[in-house]
Amino acid sequence: MGNADRGGLDGRRALVTGGSKGSGRAVAERLRELGADVYVTARTMPDGYELPDRFIAADTSTVEGTALVASRIEEAGGVDILVHVVGGSSTPPGGFAKITDEQWMIELNLNFLGAVRLDRALVPSMVRAGHGVVLHFTSIQRQMPLHDSTLAYASAKAALRTYSKGLANELAPHGVRVNAMSPGGIETEAYERFVDRLAEGNGLSRAGAKESILESLGGVPLGRFARTEEIADLAAFLVSDQASAIVGAEYVIDGGTVPAI
Ligand SMILES: NC(=O)c1ccc[n+]([C@@H]2O[C@H](COP(=O)([O-])OP(=O)(O)OC[C@H]3O[C@@H](n4cnc5c(N)ncnc54)[C@H](OP(=O)(O)O)[C@@H]3O)[C@@H](O)[C@H]2O)c1
Repeated sequence: MGNADRGGLDGRRALVTGGSKGSGRAVAERLRELGADVYVTARTMPDGYELPDRFIAADTSTVEGTALVASRIEEAGGVDILVHVVGGSSTPPGGFAKITDEQWMIELNLNFLGAVRLDRALVPSMVRAGHGVVLHFTSIQRQMPLHDSTLAYASAKAALRTYSKGLANELAPHGVRVNAMSPGGIETEAYERFVDRLAEGNGLSRAGAKESILESLGGVPLGRFARTEEIADLAAFLVSDQASAIVGAEYVIDGGTVPAI
């Protein structure tokens, strides 16, 4: 089989969490282009979603939400590819002393335990089949945490990375590959709206607003954040047979933002 064919996903069934916006939407679209039958989950189905029978509306930060997703996927016959893109931070600014127990649990449930619960439900059928791929989205904040408002998020992503590595070691002998990818800033729709607000509020051009965001992070050597299609390219590679010997790895995609090894 040629290397191009080994990138194809014909006949594979996939689930992409957080697949309605930003990186997740780009990943779902790319896996479909490559031939996979892709289920998507998020809390709200976007208006006019083109494949409503492949959309599962659920809150994956809850036990009930992940159980609902798992039962829909089991009805469909399970998945060969499971991409956990969902994640984010809602902690208000103010530093460590302001993060309540409740807020810690919100971040842990969204960024870590949702993946743990879905893997526990869906990976056993991969093991029975003798093949499968799991991909966890972490963040460069797991190695470069920002402390003002995202410390709990960063810690949850660190837990996800450690869990991902242990899971990879356990599952590789059963033919199931587990990896992670760690984005820095991403040019999502939400980011573009933020740039517009910053530009308007500070009398800057859009390019000037983007420059000020990069500077606030200590600079990004590439000079810009990653595009969602670049995130999708890496995800598609990692879940394809082209990556068949890659196990337990975490691929950083950050334009050089993390300044050390
Ligand atoms: N954006 C960045 O700069 C950046 C940087 C480093 C790492 N990351 C990581 O990369 C991943 C993708 O980020 P992104 O910015 O591309 O995502 P995004 O544009 O914020 O989209 C988030 C997706 O997750 C869904 N979602 C949010 N909360 C959910 C919940 N409780 N249950 C189910 N679905 C939920 C959203 O749909 P609904 O709102 O309809 O639920 C949406 O589809 C995340 O893991 C993030 O932590 C992002």
